[in-house]
Amino acid sequence: MYYDFETVIDRTGTGAAKWDSMRQSNPDVPAGIPPFSVADLDLKLAPEITEGLREHLQSAVLGYTMATDAYWDAVTGWFRDRHGWGVERDHIRLAPGVVPAFYTAIRAVTAPGDGVIVQTPAYYPFFGAIENNDRVVVRNPLVQRDGRWRLDLDDLAEKAADPRTTALLFCSPHNPTGRVWEREELEQVWRIARENDLTVISDEIHFDLVMPGHAHTVFSTLGADAAARTIVCTAPSKTFNLAGMSTSNIVIADDALRERYSAEQARTGFFTLNALGFEACRLAYTKADGWLAGLIDLVHGNHQMVRNFLGERMPEVVVHDLEGTYLQWMDFRALGLSPEELQRIHEQEALVFFDEGAMFGPEGAGFERMNLAAPRHAIEAALERLARSHGR
Ligand SMILES: Cc1ncc(COP(=O)(O)O)c(C=O)c1O
Repeated sequence: MYYDFETVIDRTGTGAAKWDSMRQSNPDVPAGIPPFSVADLDLKLAPEITEGLREHLQSAVLGYTMATDAYWDAVTGWFRDRHGWGVERDHIRLAPGVVPAFYTAIRAVTAPGDGVIVQTPAYYPFFGAIENNDRVVVRNPLVQRDGRWRLDLDDLAEKAADPRTTALLFCSPHNPTGRVWEREELEQVWRIARENDLTVISDEIHFDLVMPGHAHTVFSTLGADAAARTIVCTAPSKTFNLAGMSTSNIVIADDALRERYSAEQARTGFFTLNALGFEACRLAYTKADGWLAGLIDLVHGNHQMVRNFLGERMPEVVVHDLEGTYLQWMDFRALGLSPEELQRIHEQEALVFFDEGAMFGPEGAGFERMNLAAPRHAIEAALERLARSHGR
């Protein structure tokens, strides 16, 4: 099957968050230049999803819609076949997004004033989920060892030992560093969480996006005791570009924990998803794995291209290994520019729009996060503009 990973779809004026914010930063960007910021794909949808939705709409009524057996089979089948993870359908709670789900989870498993640990730099809504709910962010900064981002387990153990700290909001694979945690690392995290009675909220939204040579371990598969203290947040949204479909599946194996989560969710008045989201998720999980293999090839190749290009033209820039996600973390600090100057050069001169590293916390200042889920030729052209804007 041929998949088109070449066409740039200019989303200007369509309400696309990424494209609109690019125009706000620089109204003079010529048509057809994609931004490389917000984590959705600047690629055509999998044709299996487009065609399937079209067919569905021939007869769909779009009234209040519940999950069908076919939906649950698709979701549990994906978990089983792709992740070796056996999940009972009754253990899944629906959510309109992973962000609302971890907001709910934090309220469900912690009390106001409690500390919640995050590994920084962190996906920025992690901070909001904690602080907007009157909890306290407890930072566990990642460290670099041999050029690879690592968990600082000693620091984690120290922070976890504080009795006011009651949960870990964990990102696996990790956005923005692109790490896919190895099983041994996860076992260490779980050991510390267990010893200190922490509940783990594991955001695994990027779990399907794993590069060759790496393997993702779902936190709950570490063992029955880990599963009993973990809320795993999943969605087809990153993998298949379905963020606008607002369909996420939250897995909570333990009955009491699930009841706490459900009670908190009930307080929000949210009960079911949108009708097309169910069908898009079902189609993705049953029909689009071939397309996903093509996407991973594309992203992996884009990563190698970025690394080679910058290695030659801007060798001071550190291009971190991309183990998972399609988000390339790059360290520009050796150029000696302030983050503001870096952003100005990129957005006003190079016409290249990244997510600024400081969005992910002060640990990210001087870094840039580049979205690699775009046609290769668009990334190549952007790199050329980038190098030139730095006089290379
Ligand atoms: C780690 C992580 N969690 C959650 C989300 C977004 O979740 P949702 O759109 O389902 O609310 C993103 C999007 O980039 C993400 O990177």
